[in-house]
Amino acid sequence: MIDTAFDLVIRHARIATASDTFSADIGITGGRIVQLGTNLGAGKKKIDAAGRTVTPGGVDAHCHLDQPMAPPVRMADDFNTGTRAAACGGTTTVISFAAQEKGQSLRAAVDDYHRRADGRAHIDYSFHLIVSDPTAQVLTEELPALIAEGYTSFKIYMTYDDLKLDDGQILDVLDVARQHGAMAMIHAENADCIEWLTRRLEAGGRTAPRFHAHARPMLVEREATHRAIALAELVDVPILIVHVSGREAIEQIRWARSHGLQVFAETCPQYLFLTAEDLGIDDSYQGARCICSPPPRDKANQEIIWNGLNDGLFTLFSSDHAPFNYDGSEGKKPGGSEVEFRHIPNGLAGIETRMALLYSEGVLGGRITLQKFVELTATNPAKAYGLHPRKGTIAIGSDADLVIWDERDLVLRNTQLHHAVDHTPYEGMALKAWPGLTLSRGEVVWDGQEFHGRAGSGQFLSRGAPSLMPRQPGGRA
Ligand code: URP
Ligand code: ZN
Ligand code: ZN
Repeated sequence: MIDTAFDLVIRHARIATASDTFSADIGITGGRIVQLGTNLGAGKKKIDAAGRTVTPGGVDAHCHLDQPMAPPVRMADDFNTGTRAAACGGTTTVISFAAQEKGQSLRAAVDDYHRRADGRAHIDYSFHLIVSDPTAQVLTEELPALIAEGYTSFKIYMTYDDLKLDDGQILDVLDVARQHGAMAMIHAENADCIEWLTRRLEAGGRTAPRFHAHARPMLVEREATHRAIALAELVDVPILIVHVSGREAIEQIRWARSHGLQVFAETCPQYLFLTAEDLGIDDSYQGARCICSPPPRDKANQEIIWNGLNDGLFTLFSSDHAPFNYDGSEGKKPGGSEVEFRHIPNGLAGIETRMALLYSEGVLGGRITLQKFVELTATNPAKAYGLHPRKGTIAIGSDADLVIWDERDLVLRNTQLHHAVDHTPYEGMALKAWPGLTLSRGEVVWDGQEFHGRAGSGQFLSRGAPSLMPRQPGGRA
């Protein structure tokens, strides 16, 4: 017996990492894992996992919390409610977005976003940047300085009028990513095609929520994905295509990989569990709940996404939690009334359900291995965004961010969730598992019944260089 007084010992854990499953006790001191082994000595506290599976706490590397919106629209979740929901769903680190408004300095956007998070988060958090106005000052001073300070990733939009960059601007920003070793995330949809299609739909009176999917067919995602890949090839920099929805974008990414290009890809629960029919099969407004971009596709594309999760096409599985209420005047009915689809805020809630959906349907449904689950939900996101090995794994020296899984049948109900959104797109779904315990740096934040977090206990994480990328800053392959 090793005689060490741990703060906490988790006994009889079936530990799953991205590479192995093994049985051991976990010794935790000072919020970190300090020992793994059988028959560890006593701890001041003890939890018996009783043979249940223990995975690293989830790293949700794509979620939107309290992101400033044009009034009257407002996100339903701030850092308090959003990180509470994350913890109850088995996520222990979130990376959300400090979004630059056009005309605003990037630094001001980051400062404002820190004020929104300070003292509110229950779990650890970090920020990606959103670059919407790449002025000379941003490109030569602000962005390099922020990357050096640990904001080592940023998102570029090819759509949305208030955020989109043209190709020349994208090249400029990608060049900064190359020189400074940052990860560039790209929202790939062709803005002009969407606008053209939207106007035609509107001219024909087709403005109900379901027509959102008609305005954003896979072609617009395919073209933008292809263009993003070409721009990245020109600059010679890795990129990560976020929220990939189906076959056509996947084909572009496979083509890029087959040509030796470093193109990473992320997908989200909505592309596995929803289809365009969830936006409505008639002109009723209910489908506004499921409006997101790119939109969910069809059953055949869901299968293609499952294949991509299995065969390594996808590096990350994130929620893209973008929380808007259905009722009231700040969310899906801006100003309190039903509006044309172009005015409905894009995005859906998923921060609390991401892990259980993939564990239930993926691991327990026999579609992916437990190792793949850990890789997609924790290890790879931590690596992609410079948090590994502190986050995303179960290893000596890593933060004690852990989930003990309860494998049991349950039916998903929004009333049981902890976000501040008035609905879940997955209402009524049958699941086979839910986190029975979530630990954030060794503290129980969710015990399967109740939330035990404390606002302000989540720490801001300054991040290192992405470790999925073999290149050095400024270097070529
Ligand atoms: O519809 C979506 N995905 N909304 C969130 C913002 C984004 O583009 O990720
Ligand atoms: Zn996006
Ligand atoms: Zn998003």
